Amino acid sequence: MKVLVVGTGYVGLVTGVCLASFGHDVVCVDQDWQKIARLNMGECPIYEDGLEPLLREQLLANRLSFDTAISDSTDCDIALIAVGTPPRNDGSADLASVFEVVSELGHKLKQGAFIGTKSTVPVGTAHSIETFLESMGRQDIRVVSIPEFLREGSALSDTLQPSRLIFGVPDEESLRVLEELHRPLEVPVVACNRATAEMIKYASNAFLATKISFINEIANICERVGADVQQVSQGMGLDPRIGSSFLRAGLGYGGSCFPKDTRALVNIAGDVAYDFKLLKAVVEVNQRQRTEPIRRLRQWFGDLSHIRVTLLGVAFKPGTNDIRESPALEIGERLRSQGAQVQFYDPVVTRFQLQSQEFVRVLDDPYMALEHADAAIIVTEWPEIVDLDWARVGAVMRRRLVFDGRNVLDPAALEEAGFLIENFGFHP
Ligand code: UGA
Repeated sequence: MKVLVVGTGYVGLVTGVCLASFGHDVVCVDQDWQKIARLNMGECPIYEDGLEPLLREQLLANRLSFDTAISDSTDCDIALIAVGTPPRNDGSADLASVFEVVSELGHKLKQGAFIGTKSTVPVGTAHSIETFLESMGRQDIRVVSIPEFLREGSALSDTLQPSRLIFGVPDEESLRVLEELHRPLEVPVVACNRATAEMIKYASNAFLATKISFINEIANICERVGADVQQVSQGMGLDPRIGSSFLRAGLGYGGSCFPKDTRALVNIAGDVAYDFKLLKAVVEVNQRQRTEPIRRLRQWFGDLSHIRVTLLGVAFKPGTNDIRESPALEIGERLRSQGAQVQFYDPVVTRFQLQSQEFVRVLDDPYMALEHADAAIIVTEWPEIVDLDWARVGAVMRRRLVFDGRNVLDPAALEEAGFLIENFGFHP
């Protein structure tokens, strides 16, 4: 099939590369010409295991190409929309870019082509796109919803071996086209109407976020009653109805998806006069959780204006250089507003990425970042951080105080190295 992918962010790029590897002819389009120039040279703009070699392989095989605009003579069978849907101030998704693309596609697509939404879009968007196309006289274009469930850090394996495929379709023929597009994948398929597909995406992310906020609340209670949240998670997770994943207590969720999608779903519910109380609480708990180290630092030091704090990890999770909605940035900003000196270390995030945050010092060497610090906070559980030489860390810090925001350090080893260690949900 001939496939056009519009938007080369995480979802668009990974989708484009993987579809090319299935044997389709894929053109990926993005307005960012610098990014397109790099991609055409086989350089991957995101840090994602295995993506760059596969990208190069597909470029060499002439199955994949990149362009800065949708060609007037595009003859693609299906155009996938993977542009951003950033949150507006009220939390709802901004669909301006999506509809700009639809309008262009309405002028350029061949008769009978398909449009698929890959971006996470509010329930009802596929239908709105269809209505919009009809107003352009393009009743012939069919709109399908193909939500994406890839995780950053394992994007390639999630796309090549997904747990399921969700096909939101208006008719049987559209379903056949989506089956053809994903032909080599032998995984469960849920074929449903488009609103259902759009809801499956939001409900999945909201449920995972709920698990995280739930275990974080349990952790806060565990601390107060002398229980150990890690063992609580283990004990709960062995029940197959609960499952052990997404029960790691800590600083809460970040990234470009959970924070945005949970707020958007609260909004979607609000639009139909439904008060989604549970999800509102999930969002609130997450917000409180990520600033917990500041409350604890105030308990230790009172005034924070003369202390130096090192945040270990800036990426919102290990395996990615994505810093969107990273707890590290918010903690750093709040500490700084209370007068503390803040330094960061991350094995892959560069100081260039934090350019706008001119207050921060990102150091390449963790030991240098920890020099004379009064406290360290583990924000991201990178192996490079967990496996630091803690005796050496102890020798360079002014005070040996560590907040383990992800419960990943060995408390006994740290205590032996002379540290006071604070965890989430248990007292070592
Ligand atoms: C998430 C979903 O897992 C994907 O299925 C989905 O496709 C994606 O959002 C999306 O909508 O695009 P991602 O944001 O890459 O993927 O990251 P996750 O691995 O799900 O982690 C999200 C956050 O939850 C991270 O900040 C992580 O530190 C946190 N987390 C995760 C916890 O705090 N505790 C846990 O037990 C698990």
